[in-house]
Amino acid sequence: MRYPRYIGNWKDEYRNKLRSMTEIADMIQSNTRIFSAGWGGDPIALIKAISERRETLENVEFCSNNSLGLPFNEPRNDGHLLNNQWFLGSGARREIQAGRGTYTPHHFGKQTRDMEGLEIDYGIMYVSPPDSHGFMSFGTMTAYSRYLVDHAKIVVVQVNEKMPFIYGDTLVHVSEVNYICEGNEPLLTIPVIPTNEKSEAIAGFIDEFIEDGSTIQLGIGGIPNAVAKLLAHKHDLGIHSEMFTESIIDLMESGAVNNCQKSSHRYRSVACFAGGSERLYNWLNYNHFVEFYPVSYTNDPVVIAKQNKMVSINATLSVDLSGQACSESIGPKQYSGVGGQMDFNLGAGMCPDGKAFLVVNSTAKTKEGIVSTIVPTLEKGSFISTTRNDVDFIVTEYGVAKMRGKSMRQRAEQLISIAHPDFRAELRKEAEKLFFI
Ligand code: COA
Repeated sequence: MRYPRYIGNWKDEYRNKLRSMTEIADMIQSNTRIFSAGWGGDPIALIKAISERRETLENVEFCSNNSLGLPFNEPRNDGHLLNNQWFLGSGARREIQAGRGTYTPHHFGKQTRDMEGLEIDYGIMYVSPPDSHGFMSFGTMTAYSRYLVDHAKIVVVQVNEKMPFIYGDTLVHVSEVNYICEGNEPLLTIPVIPTNEKSEAIAGFIDEFIEDGSTIQLGIGGIPNAVAKLLAHKHDLGIHSEMFTESIIDLMESGAVNNCQKSSHRYRSVACFAGGSERLYNWLNYNHFVEFYPVSYTNDPVVIAKQNKMVSINATLSVDLSGQACSESIGPKQYSGVGGQMDFNLGAGMCPDGKAFLVVNSTAKTKEGIVSTIVPTLEKGSFISTTRNDVDFIVTEYGVAKMRGKSMRQRAEQLISIAHPDFRAELRKEAEKLFFI
């Protein structure tokens, strides 16, 4: 276990630990594991430098969460670098679906529990430049960076002056790391998904369930974004989330979110990572209205359950007539990850006055044509992200279906009523065949 040591001359230590990217890349040995901070915390220039010498390396596992746009995803990695993603996004989706890499299933809140026992030879991450006492901030990705600092045999940080200094449990001291490199490339940005008629209709249905003073978690995807826009007319909302997005800035600036009724971290929004534009990253820099914590805390269902009137809003891809939801694959093809969907679903489910919403457009466009996302049974091979025993509300652009405490018959009836009208008769026929109704 590492801990920060007070050193008056930390600047000397910084200089002593400073190496070029190439020097660090040259240190990597074969038959090892690199674990990177994930999302916007992946040190891009350092990873590129390592990947440039891939042909000299054998059997190096590269682990991360949702690496975006990194050169690990190429055939010439085969045998040299194995890409193991703990959350899947557009960056590595194609390669992992094609079998040239792998995915590790887990609930995000339990990630560091699941990493226990894993030998981590190199922990790598972006950090902000140090403050006047030699503390650097993990910045936009704090989820498991502290775990990497405490458990990796060698800790390498890439100081990027564009990385915001974010408050909370986000700090690593110069004395705690083995090597430092510097590179100020632009941070990865994630475009805001524009709202549309369907996502606005879904947001409209959820709106009436959200009381003033509620604590909100907003998941990833277009619909949670639309919900955020609609919350602007509420009062005294709080944020306890996994992801911090651009839409939360608007809610904080308009005053709809002031965190004044939160049961913990009053007056501050809490999350464990941020994804958005440069505006978001600049806004987070030295902003005392926001605190980031490790995912083992933000996504702990017990912590979530203690929030005042917790409401979670997450998206899914497909729901069967019993209410079980597949949010991470299309059939057996891994598309995303469960992330913290179940963590928040469980936490909100245990919270007095808590509510958990899963949102989905009633149809999806596929190569075969338009399909219903409400289905009699999930497509063969689908992975279940939220079980039917935990699901609370399902919402489409046609309405809200309440699942908790409802029988299979009631669930099927309600879900058929919020399916796209073109598919309702067929769903009813199938439900009858299955003796659901
Ligand atoms: N069958 C086949 N294809 C489907 C489908 C279905 N049932 N449902 C969606 N798709 C396709 C869409 O047509 C779309 O294809 P395109 O990219 O070619 O247009 C694609 O899958 C993505 O669907 P969309 O609904 O636009 O996704 P999104 O960006 O809104 O994200 C999730 C939705 C579910 C993938 C995303 O919210 C997620 O990863 N959730 C799990 C993680 C989570 O909830 N974490 C919680 C805290 S952050």
